[in-house]
Amino acid sequence: MGQLLPSSTTLFTSKPSPTCTFLSLLIIGILGFYTLHFPHPLLSSSNSHSALRFRQIFLSHATNATLSSYLRALTLHPHLAGTPPSVDTFNFVRAHFLGLGLDTRSAHYNALLSYPLHSSLSAHFGNGSRVDIPLTEPGLNNNRDGVVPPYHAYSPSGSAHAKLAFANHGTDEDYRALGELGVNVSGCVVIVRRGDDVSRGEVVRKAEKNGALAVLLYTEGAGGDGNGGFKKGFERGFVMNGVGDPLSPGWAGVDGAERLDLDDPEVLKRFPKIPSTPLSAEAAESLLGWLGGATVPAAWRESLPAAVRGVGPGPTVVNFTYKGEKKVVKIHNVFAVIRGSEEPDRYVLLGNHRDAWTYGAVDPNSGTAALLDIARRYSLLMRSGWNPRRTIILCSWDAEEFGMVGSTEWVEQNIANLGSKAVAYLNVDCAVQGPGFFVRSTPQLDNLILEVTKKVKDPDSVGATVYEKWMTANRRVDVQRLSAVDSDFAPFLQHAGIPSMDMYYGIDFSVYHTAYDAYEWMINFGDPFFQRHVAVAGMWGLLALHLADDLVLPFNFLSYADQLKHYKDVLSNLLDGGVSLHPLTTAIQEFAYAAKEAEDEAQKLRDQENTSELVILKTRALNDRLMFAERGFLDSDGIEGRQWFKHLVYGPPGEHGSKLSFFPGVGDAMLRAKRMSRTEGEAKVQHEIWRVARAIQRAEKSLRGDVF
Ligand SMILES: *[C@@H]1O[C@H](CO)[C@@H](O)[C@H](O)[C@H]1NC(C)=O
Ligand SMILES: *[C@@H]1O[C@H](CO)[C@@H](O)[C@H](O)[C@H]1NC(C)=O
Ligand SMILES: *[C@@H]1O[C@H](CO)[C@@H](O)[C@H](O)[C@H]1NC(C)=O
Ligand SMILES: *[C@@H]1O[C@H](CO)[C@@H](O)[C@H](O)[C@H]1NC(C)=O
Ligand SMILES: *[C@@H]1O[C@H](CO)[C@@H](O)[C@H](O)[C@H]1NC(C)=O
Repeated sequence: MGQLLPSSTTLFTSKPSPTCTFLSLLIIGILGFYTLHFPHPLLSSSNSHSALRFRQIFLSHATNATLSSYLRALTLHPHLAGTPPSVDTFNFVRAHFLGLGLDTRSAHYNALLSYPLHSSLSAHFGNGSRVDIPLTEPGLNNNRDGVVPPYHAYSPSGSAHAKLAFANHGTDEDYRALGELGVNVSGCVVIVRRGDDVSRGEVVRKAEKNGALAVLLYTEGAGGDGNGGFKKGFERGFVMNGVGDPLSPGWAGVDGAERLDLDDPEVLKRFPKIPSTPLSAEAAESLLGWLGGATVPAAWRESLPAAVRGVGPGPTVVNFTYKGEKKVVKIHNVFAVIRGSEEPDRYVLLGNHRDAWTYGAVDPNSGTAALLDIARRYSLLMRSGWNPRRTIILCSWDAEEFGMVGSTEWVEQNIANLGSKAVAYLNVDCAVQGPGFFVRSTPQLDNLILEVTKKVKDPDSVGATVYEKWMTANRRVDVQRLSAVDSDFAPFLQHAGIPSMDMYYGIDFSVYHTAYDAYEWMINFGDPFFQRHVAVAGMWGLLALHLADDLVLPFNFLSYADQLKHYKDVLSNLLDGGVSLHPLTTAIQEFAYAAKEAEDEAQKLRDQENTSELVILKTRALNDRLMFAERGFLDSDGIEGRQWFKHLVYGPPGEHGSKLSFFPGVGDAMLRAKRMSRTEGEAKVQHEIWRVARAIQRAEKSLRGDVF
């Protein structure tokens, strides 16, 4: 009792065990080949010809009109997670999938989200006068109702009436620089500008550690879209530690599930203790202009307005109050499942979140529009006789903006199933933020990504592919990696070890998390003709078609081996004598050898036009090795202090200032070592290097064809 999950929350209830499916699949596969397809003895080649034809149909049915209409419909109203308009978007996506005749499922969770009730800010001067600073965004038109006021989700309620001080990006170095100026922010309200790699939560925690009473966090006007007006925007966001529902850490918050109390120390430690709020660049400039005290350090000047002279504290005093509530609400994920014809127990997942801080035209519904258009085109392919070889799952997540909550709960619930069956997770969040193509992935997907960019038309030039434009712009193909925790790939890769990808057009858009992230912005600045949407949908859908249909999985681990070698080289430049990289060097060499062996085998099977039972078995066995290798990088103990993060190659550094965007445990150890004796510090770093080396060995063993 209480343990029976509603059927809608379990996606894969009636599946036989993997072994059964594997055997029956072989039988079906073989019978299928020799009965249904007997007239085509060269089945794999006829299969790949038809797969090619379906990919061409997929590409030729791109239409910017459908994409723009989906985006329009999704962004009519603000749809913050946990609110009724958000349920409307769930129903919209669900109706779209059902209308296309797709097998549509949903998964609902109870999660602790956070909403504002009231906030106010005023500045008080020595001459007795005061200025009220509105914490709202002036409307662009008359249809702004229902936009949530600017706030930081999971900020505690509280008030502070104190001198204001400027702490630059709010990092440890910044507080040290203040210390050198004789400035102590203890007992002050700090104003901070968002920096590149410091999360909001981290900014608040550092301020708290330094004794500040509250934080005002602003984002400098990004501009760049020819419209300076967005200095009035406030960047909403969450300030919680970690990802997923805070009351069900590590397990799914389904109906009847175990739930921690709000005052459980495990829960409390995820929230800051001092209140904070976002601030617009415009409001921040006024406040900063009223500061006296020590002169702003030269290194901080960057883009500060000339009128800003001092870092404070004071003489201006601010009175800031925030009152909010945390409450358990229902959140809703929706899926379309296209069952694989030959390997239904292998899943290719495409995911995007649906919930938005405001209207969400960029973040995230440009991606939702692309997902819906892929669904439309896949259903069209199905009507022309296509069925993917492997199962494709289109996922629409809720509550990403509160810390990847919808996707995390689902991954936690289905961890064993995904661990044994997921081939890859392809994420798109803000599909279109402006011009320029960006992609991040785990390295075994690099080659496939390149191939796919060669097939899709560049949206911003005539007669060039995305690949050609990329090469002209960057002179090299620049696939980035996935150590950040900034979208729904985090649970898939960093918790479950599933090969992942994330792609988008444009970067650092000025209306990020503000009320101005609306359809009008998209048609005026982001993507007036929806051609960038067309490009993202094309590449995303094509990647999935390859992963679902190619007989041999299109993974290439040579690229992973090269990437690991490069990481080792970077490390060897950062470390001095006392630490040995030998375990890493050896593990990477062995991994490179296994990668070469796997790639040779894959190539042989790809070239082969023999579909005997034995060859199909061999292909399936190789595919399993390719699929499971990524899981080897997981470590059950996880990253020290953040054990939910299990991946030892890609994950978030625990400490700001880590020089590494890989091997997060090693990066943390290097920073912590600075606060220890030399021998102690070196031992700590050495231990983390051993752990990574062992993870690479596990991946290598998984990739190797031999018994052991
Ligand atoms: C009080 O001081 C503030 C900040 O220096 C200034 O902007 C304002 O004009 C002054 N008000 C009066 C009444 O002097
Ligand atoms: C700042 O001031 C607080 C309170 O007076 C004090 O406890 C703290 O040690 C000071 N910090 C530094 C770095 O001096
Ligand atoms: C500070 O603001 C709060 C909330 O608006 C208000 O109740 C309080 O009286 C203010 N305090 C001062 C000293 O102005
Ligand atoms: C679709 O693209 C064409 C060609 O760029 C353009 O003329 C048309 O306005 C676009 N339609 C939409 C809805 O953006
Ligand atoms: C296909 O491969 C199997 C197993 O390797 C082999 O026995 C068979 O002769 C091959 N058939 C063809 C037509 O090459």
